[in-house]
Amino acid sequence: MKKNIQIAIDGPAAAGKSTIAKLAAEDLGYTYIDTGAMYRAITYKVLKRHIDLENEEALTQLLFETTIELKPSSDGQLVILDDEDVSDEIRSNIVTSSVSIVASHAGLREEMVNRQLIMAKSGGVVMDGRDIGTHVLVDAELKVFMSASVDERAKRRQLDNERRGIDSHVDQLKKEIVERDKMDTERHASPLVQAKDAIYLDTTNLTIQEAAKYIIQLAKERMS
Ligand code: DC
Repeated sequence: MKKNIQIAIDGPAAAGKSTIAKLAAEDLGYTYIDTGAMYRAITYKVLKRHIDLENEEALTQLLFETTIELKPSSDGQLVILDDEDVSDEIRSNIVTSSVSIVASHAGLREEMVNRQLIMAKSGGVVMDGRDIGTHVLVDAELKVFMSASVDERAKRRQLDNERRGIDSHVDQLKKEIVERDKMDTERHASPLVQAKDAIYLDTTNLTIQEAAKYIIQLAKERMS
């Protein structure tokens, strides 16, 4: 019996990855790592500094000078950027619409992956993102590729925004989700793709609890 396995969850925007991964991690007593939050945090800093989003060298250099911490708390996971809590700021519309450009740079991604590998070292981990099963935790015992219909994903993102007090419209969200999927899947550096050894999970008609339960069950099978 192997108690501490690595679980990699990938998939397109707003497929429910974070919520489901968090629940599964809690149940298993594992660390949850939201890698999208790391790309969002550096994007927030880039925007604040008015650096050109396309300037790979400047962005990568900025990341080298930046600390990003993911801290568990009773309010969920806090995102600390250079000692400042930016958990809410990184979910703003401007960060969401800019993050795919920032995340497309190979140099910046390489440094992010190095940091993610260090974070995953300590034991049982559930990590979610776009390239976890393909480039980060390539030997993960369990890989899941999670998706849902665009309509359902836009609906979920709107509910999520509502909870956070962010104004949004479902048609606009649908457009943005399709654009972000396109950028994430077509980029040159580690594009979003299902790992060969990943299990495909369509969450369109599943509740969060059902999806989490399925992952927990798969994890327990992989442990034994
Ligand atoms: O999961 P999210 O919406 O918070 O992710 C934000 C962006 O970061 C998304 O457009 C793609 C990028 N991302 C990535 O390229 N690789 C990851 N491992 C995680 C996120």
